[in-house]
Amino acid sequence: MDAYSPRVVRRVIETGAPVGAVLEQMEQMRSSDVQWRDGRAFSLAYSAGPEVLALAEEAYRRFSGENALNMAAFPSLRRMHQDVVDVVTGWVHGDDAVAGFMTSGGTESLVLVVRAATKRMLREERSPARPNMVLPMSAHAALDKGADYFGVQVRRTAVSSDWRADVDAMADAIDDDTILVVASAPQYPQGVVDPIGEIAALAASRDINCHVDACMGGVVLPAMERLGEPIPRWDFRVDGVTSISVDLHKYGYSSKGSGVILHRNKQLRSDQTFMTNNWLGGAYGSSGILGTKSGGPIASSWAVLHHLGNEGYDRLARSARSAALGIARHIESHPMLALRALPQTTLFSFGTVDPIRHDVFAIADEIAAAGWHVDRQGPPASIHLTVNAVHEPLVGRFCAVLDAAVTRAAATSAQGGTAVYATTD
Ligand SMILES: Cc1ncc(COP(=O)(O)O)c(C=O)c1O
Repeated sequence: MDAYSPRVVRRVIETGAPVGAVLEQMEQMRSSDVQWRDGRAFSLAYSAGPEVLALAEEAYRRFSGENALNMAAFPSLRRMHQDVVDVVTGWVHGDDAVAGFMTSGGTESLVLVVRAATKRMLREERSPARPNMVLPMSAHAALDKGADYFGVQVRRTAVSSDWRADVDAMADAIDDDTILVVASAPQYPQGVVDPIGEIAALAASRDINCHVDACMGGVVLPAMERLGEPIPRWDFRVDGVTSISVDLHKYGYSSKGSGVILHRNKQLRSDQTFMTNNWLGGAYGSSGILGTKSGGPIASSWAVLHHLGNEGYDRLARSARSAALGIARHIESHPMLALRALPQTTLFSFGTVDPIRHDVFAIADEIAAAGWHVDRQGPPASIHLTVNAVHEPLVGRFCAVLDAAVTRAAATSAQGGTAVYATTD
């Protein structure tokens, strides 16, 4: 493959290239990508195995050119979209009033949540002087993105020692200008579920929106409940919860670009949508941020949901959870590692017992050098693992890689030298 330069690429596209050559070049380009299909990634990508993946991709391919901007032209997409929304509504115990849309994923859902909160104020002719939203430090960064887009002040509050939202701190931060509070099920950084009932009650007492971000847990928590695990109430059964986001391109094992946002009723949903005819092109409406929207993610989600069914999701949730707990318990018993919290679903993070002597990011470097991808986060400096079904057979292997990485990072820091990384696995 030619070395990359803008000049090379511009020369190549002058003439185009045969299909085979184009595909071959793409395969070459991905040769150093993380091998997520083999379970080497503990973030960014999810796999329920080759069969589910093939179905997701095939469904995506078949509908990738269809445009969900106007589903009147594509009744197939309308039907699939409605089915997906209905299934997810059932998972989160929404009643017949609950209404929602598919989005391109968690970020779009959360940005729309902020937008809907501002629109609700306008619709109800309430005019906060300087609208703000109150959310724990653990809630996802995309909420800040939404606040940035729509001019909402962000009030981040401390979390408790167990990493869950501190409800008193949230109560103190709320005032007459608060338009939205947020809780997560679970939050991403440490994988614990916020006290959703108490947070929703704060919102209800002021008649403002309360969003539950279940982008990570929206598929797994219902499955865990079906499997008989004790799960504190977190969904539409909780009074005061006005919206919930669930991502299907995570633990729904659908193709990327698949999320769902649900509102308690159609009126609250209307705060999310946009409609205009103030141009020469006639009526234009859309449910989310995108205009033209590939039918691929809708079809992919529909296909995977129908193939797996609740039984399939229960099986996958059991696998992912067993892998997450297996790795977490290993970390918990490691003398040099500090698990932040036992995962309430399938994600968690850890640091080192002595962060001055043992840099957790040096351990992450060693893990990367062994060909595995983990996320780094902070504060506090931590490694984050999003464990999914693909990892179940790999628990022992990953724990061995982790142990070796800890030993090597410690040896390197004891020598005060720069690590020379070798791929050992
Ligand atoms: C809890 C939570 N919410 C929202 C998101 C954003 O989702 P996406 O990256 O799919 O837009 C994530 C991503 O990891 C998340 O963990």
